[in-house]
Amino acid sequence: MFVGLAGLLVYIIVLRFTSGYIMHSTRNMICKAPLPNTKYDETLINNGADYIFNCANIASIKLVRLLGISIYKKTYLGEYGSGTKVAVKMLNTSPGKTPNYVRQKMLLKEILLLQELKHCNILKLLGFCIRGNEFATESLKDEGALAVYEYGEEVHRNISFFTHLPLLQRLDIALAITDLFIYLENSPLGSMGMLDNAFRHFLWNNDTLKMIDLNGNWQEPHCQIKDNATCELNVTCVDGRCLGHNAKHNLLRIKNLLLMRLLMDTDILELERNATGQDKGRRQYGLDALKLLILMLNENPNAQEVTFTWVRQRLLDVKSSL
Ligand SMILES: Nc1ncnc2c1ncn2[C@@H]1O[C@H](COP(=O)(O)OP(=O)(O)OP(=O)(O)O)[C@@H](O)[C@H]1O
Ligand SMILES: [Mg+2]
Repeated sequence: MFVGLAGLLVYIIVLRFTSGYIMHSTRNMICKAPLPNTKYDETLINNGADYIFNCANIASIKLVRLLGISIYKKTYLGEYGSGTKVAVKMLNTSPGKTPNYVRQKMLLKEILLLQELKHCNILKLLGFCIRGNEFATESLKDEGALAVYEYGEEVHRNISFFTHLPLLQRLDIALAITDLFIYLENSPLGSMGMLDNAFRHFLWNNDTLKMIDLNGNWQEPHCQIKDNATCELNVTCVDGRCLGHNAKHNLLRIKNLLLMRLLMDTDILELERNATGQDKGRRQYGLDALKLLILMLNENPNAQEVTFTWVRQRLLDVKSSL
């Protein structure tokens, strides 16, 4: 009896610790972006495993200038330590149609989403402070709700930003974005569909593009079961939802970034001329994959087979042939 109980106890303890470990490691397995170097600033207090800012140290950030204002938030460029840049977000309380409690909810939702979703192509949340209902205080010591993010540069308005990058790097960026959308399609919160122009929500950080706004639609649209015709974008109705709709919608929104900025500039003819000797067959295989990818994204992105997973495979084929 005693041995049985002791065995059960050991089993529960082992299960408790290993399941915690497994959950933690799966969540962080996707890819780890290193935290900014904090060695020089001993006053930074760790806010749980992942965060370097909390209510106790957030005022160590100096606000430099306003980056932009949206319906519910104001975003500032901030600096800490010896000048590391961060983005600091707080509530926008200027009069408007959206009540402040709704704006507050949206800001909190943004923080919650980033706690749940970890991917190295999502700009990292570096910390937050929810301390009360005082807003528009202009002081990081008093402001009721604040969130701090890695800083990223805006590149979507700069048409020629990617053209100077070597093809291999552009392929890596395209692969990273594709991976991110596959992650968002299969995320623990459901499949995420972006609400508007996708490229606007990507910033340049650490030599790659990272997404900043996850404020999308996390449920696939409803449809009548057994009635495929009710699903737009060539996807199937499964259990009353248009399965794959959000991912397809994202692909249509992001295809111009892939096409116009990352792939189109490739001089395929030149690459074909250079593909000689023993490697010719392998090179040609990759170039054919690139041509097919550009053709499908350009002319038939609605085709059922054109998914992020399909795009990823074509990109890998191109990359492995270079
Ligand atoms: N982490 C960041 N690093 C650098 N700039 C940022 C960061 N987050 C946002 N910005 C910039 O700040 C400005 C405002 O961004 P914000 O996300 O607050 O609003 P928005 O994108 O205009 O609207 P919304 O996110 O509500 O759709 C934009 O120019 C954006 O590029
Ligand atoms: Mg935004």
